[in-house]
Amino acid sequence: MSLPICTYGNPVLRQKAVEVKDVNDDIRVLAIEMFETMYKGKGVGLAAEQVGRTERMFIIDIPAEGDVSDDGERENPDVEMPLVFINPKITNHAEDVQVGPEGCLSFPEIFANVERWYEVDAEYADRDGVPQTLHAKGLLARAIQHELDHLDGILLVDRMSHVKKVALSGKLKRLVKQTKKAL
Ligand code: NI
Repeated sequence: MSLPICTYGNPVLRQKAVEVKDVNDDIRVLAIEMFETMYKGKGVGLAAEQVGRTERMFIIDIPAEGDVSDDGERENPDVEMPLVFINPKITNHAEDVQVGPEGCLSFPEIFANVERWYEVDAEYADRDGVPQTLHAKGLLARAIQHELDHLDGILLVDRMSHVKKVALSGKLKRLVKQTKKAL
């Protein structure tokens, strides 16, 4: 069953997520529902807060055709999708950054360029509670940084340039109004 998506203006998106103590069936059911929600919205990542929950977890599923660099090479050929990240953290990153367009299911129809590290190392527990490490590049590294931001209450709107924020201010105001009306 897919869940309603919390959009910008919903206060849950500004909360700091809480560590998952026990990776149990409730967490696995939540992960399944988050996948259904994300696929329905045609996203590649979704954090628990976006469905109104405060568990420290997010999911990512990047199709193979999206996992390519500018010169057409696969960025993360050995990473099996989809991924569930529970209690994730970035343990290391390369100095290289990449500016690229980002969207977010909590900001429908809004896209902005955001600077992210090009490569990161992450640690997390998987859906069975087993500790995992992952080296990620390109879009996968970007998605991990975007979703991790959600868990700290940081949103796309906080990462875009001032100029872009001003340019989008009408759209953003309308979105907040719509969100508040529906709460
Ligand atoms: Ni997002």
